[in-house]
Amino acid sequence: MATQAIIGRRLNEHEEKISRNGLAFYEDILANGHAGLQSNGRVQAHLSLLPLVFHAVFKRILHNVKSFAADKRIEKKAETEPVKSRSKESFERIPFITAVLTHLGFCILMFLGFINQLFFTPKVAQEYNREGYAPLYESFEEFYLRYVYRRVRDCWNRPICSVPGATVTLKDRITKDYGWTFQFTRTTSECINLGSYNYLGFAEANGKCADQSIETLKKFGCASCSPRLELEDAIVFGMGFATNALNLPSLLSKGCLVVSDEKNHASLILGLRLSGATVKVFKHNNMKHLEKCLKTAIVFGQTGSGEPWKKILIVVEGVYSMEGSIVHLPEILQLKKKYKAYLYLDEAHSTGALGKNGRGVCDYYKIDPREIDILMGTFTKSFGSAGGYIAGTKARNFHAHTYAAAMSPPIAQQIITSMKIIAGEDGTDEGKRRTKQLARNTRYFRRRLNQIGVIIYGNEDSPVVPMLVYLFSKIGAVVRTLTTHNIAAVGVGFPATPLMEGRIRFCLSAAHTKQQLDYVLSHIESLADSLGLRYSRKIRDPTPIEYYSDGEAE
Ligand SMILES: Cc1ncc(COP(=O)(O)O)c(C=O)c1O
Repeated sequence: MATQAIIGRRLNEHEEKISRNGLAFYEDILANGHAGLQSNGRVQAHLSLLPLVFHAVFKRILHNVKSFAADKRIEKKAETEPVKSRSKESFERIPFITAVLTHLGFCILMFLGFINQLFFTPKVAQEYNREGYAPLYESFEEFYLRYVYRRVRDCWNRPICSVPGATVTLKDRITKDYGWTFQFTRTTSECINLGSYNYLGFAEANGKCADQSIETLKKFGCASCSPRLELEDAIVFGMGFATNALNLPSLLSKGCLVVSDEKNHASLILGLRLSGATVKVFKHNNMKHLEKCLKTAIVFGQTGSGEPWKKILIVVEGVYSMEGSIVHLPEILQLKKKYKAYLYLDEAHSTGALGKNGRGVCDYYKIDPREIDILMGTFTKSFGSAGGYIAGTKARNFHAHTYAAAMSPPIAQQIITSMKIIAGEDGTDEGKRRTKQLARNTRYFRRRLNQIGVIIYGNEDSPVVPMLVYLFSKIGAVVRTLTTHNIAAVGVGFPATPLMEGRIRFCLSAAHTKQQLDYVLSHIESLADSLGLRYSRKIRDPTPIEYYSDGEAE
């Protein structure tokens, strides 16, 4: 045990040394994308480090050759295991040749960008009168945004001019200079919307929620200029992001340990950084790694002094919006109890979207919410409103609560009305209908995509559906082609995802109809042929997928 401990400590020291090195930093971002950037703060690199990037890329290719062989062995083993023991979650690995091509494509893009930068002046604001000052902006970030991201910039940040419901109206724009600038054409396009977190379809400009919010606006105006109402065990805040970023610091301080999932949202990561607590990151949804982190932390205690941690907090999300995965809550609760840690659960994407009654991940697993120490969620997704909440056994004073103004009354009304509908307290079964419809759409869409042969990530019950296209250029091609067919979807690439895992993220809603989903699926199918997206090596079931069978949706 003692020898093991010494070896463990030495390994940690060794890892710390390596992570100070720039090359390790690049490997980190290439391997983990978002997570890599998060753990290192921001992209701090300089162009002079470009050769290191290329070196790291090739090292990664070698690494992938090894892991590809390992995956093959695992897949074989999985085939021989009984189906029952397998998870409903799927993270099929990238085919080897695609991994090589993705890296190569990225190298070429970086190289072309580098040449471009040498010969052409960028069409961006220049910093003047800065003699003696360090540049305000980081050079690698600038380089990446100008010469890599700009090529597909038209696919992101598209202005909309309607409610983000089942359909959304995009403001058309064109670029005459390869993405440096955009001009509006004064036309609009109505698209099927697969890009918003409108899980239960409450983003509506008319109907019960809108009517009651308008009434409240007339009665109370837009702002309440500070007064707030405090419930005993829950508090609401005006912004979801701030709910995490500003409240975690009041729960944690130096000497506390946080064990955080590598795919956690930026608002959680910011909050943890601000808190001054020590953060250990565990591999996404990997319970073995979580246990190892907890065990090691308890054995060694605080870094330096070896004293016991003041407290240990596990921080996870209900549904991960980039991965489409669902937290392994029952196992986490077991570990939490075993190691006497606290649990902070961010339900931004799971409240309303999961569970028979739309009550989130606890409802989904049939777990008593009181087993979770702190439940956090936002109102921007399933409730079609704005703001966030924290609920726990006892409310306490939080920074955002003490110093920020209270939520706007019509916004609060939208939450109250939609929550009443979800809970069935409006005297109708509209809430139940919406949760069922979302579950039905999710299963149907995911199964049809599996049948087409594309690789999708995540849990089969998750309404967030990432479809892997890998190559940066394919993200642009898919988003643009879908837009020409009046389908709005979101592309996600490096650094928001690992370099090799460029994807299109579809967010399903209870507001979508089967006809709309079929229309989208038919275009995905033809794109899968024209762009070669049928990467999956899973056996495809040719039987037609039923849209609805009562038992299944239940
Ligand atoms: C997991 C998670 N937590 C918090 C937030 C922040 O919420 P909001 O956008 O409502 O500020 C988000 C935003 O998408 C999120 O995904």
